[in-house]
Amino acid sequence: PYTVPAELAEHLDFVGGLHRFPAERTAVSRAAEATKDVGAARAMFHLGVTPSVLRQRYNLTARDVGVLPNNSQACAQFLEQYFHQADLAEFMQLFGSSFAHRTQVDKVVGHQGHGKAGLEASLDVEYIMSTGANVSTWVFSNSGRHESQEPFLAWLLLLSNMSALPWVHSVSYGDDEDSLSLAYMERVNAEFMKAAARGLTILFASGDDGAGCRHVHSGNHTFRPSFPASSYYNIGGRASPYLAALSDNYWVVTNRIPLPWVSGTSASTPVVAGMLALINDRRLQRGLAPLGF
Ligand SMILES: *[C@@H]1O[C@H](CO)[C@@H](O)[C@H](O)[C@H]1NC(C)=O
Ligand SMILES: *[C@@H]1O[C@H](CO)[C@@H](O)[C@H](O)[C@H]1NC(C)=O
Ligand SMILES: *[C@@H]1O[C@H](CO)[C@@H](O)[C@H](O)[C@H]1NC(C)=O
Repeated sequence: PYTVPAELAEHLDFVGGLHRFPAERTAVSRAAEATKDVGAARAMFHLGVTPSVLRQRYNLTARDVGVLPNNSQACAQFLEQYFHQADLAEFMQLFGSSFAHRTQVDKVVGHQGHGKAGLEASLDVEYIMSTGANVSTWVFSNSGRHESQEPFLAWLLLLSNMSALPWVHSVSYGDDEDSLSLAYMERVNAEFMKAAARGLTILFASGDDGAGCRHVHSGNHTFRPSFPASSYYNIGGRASPYLAALSDNYWVVTNRIPLPWVSGTSASTPVVAGMLALINDRRLQRGLAPLGF
């Protein structure tokens, strides 16, 4: 525990980065995690997921593309994951011939580092732009760390501080709930409430372990939820995951190379986000409010 002077306490939500040991497991993007345990047999069952497989499976016709210039969608990147516009263009050249689409991310907010593209970053833009086809797309590129993990609060403060934002945000990142302090999660939750009040839709990958498992040395193992997917957990709902979509063996172009076998809720999250952006497109055309929370 830490102490702060009484005169300061009421002005502070938490003190971060000082009093905790780093999480016992290094946070890695779920896509990167998934590629590590690729068994040779896994890809044998099907030839992989491409945009046309998804569009067919979810009944997206040629007319199910965005038409409004003022609708937009976003994905957020963390942990020094960067995408390359050239990978996205090549991906659409290889896999985008059957639907109207964009080949460029329209806006990058934050520092887009140079060097190699990240698998997670490539996956997210390529697939949100395949279901949310022809919808203007932004990437929030978040540098730095919060206690060696994703600086979710800094990203949310940035959103809170911007007046014009995409309605849908896809985030394929999460941390074990027990690796974060309660005060920090509550502060992050307050920002989620603000985003909800503004009508934003934010999706988080649930993680690839179902309810998860935390090994307890002396005693029973317990569930291990992933935050922020676990935020507002609703006892009347389905718990985690709340929505499901295809998640196995996606094709991704990264550093100009098409790779099969990218799997996980990292993949399904931008796919669902793109669909919600299409629904917003239709709603806005009819003068209705976006889906929101
Ligand atoms: C793609 O979106 C733009 C607006 O951003 C729109 O003008 C164009 O008609 C759309 N393309 C198709 C095929 O609907
Ligand atoms: C909010 O936006 C203002 C104006 O662009 C900027 O000066 C300020 O640093 C921003 N604050 C945060 C927390 O991003
Ligand atoms: C472990 O689970 C069993 C069965 O639910 C229970 O009886 C026992 O008290 C638990 N042990 C601990 C240390 O929580």
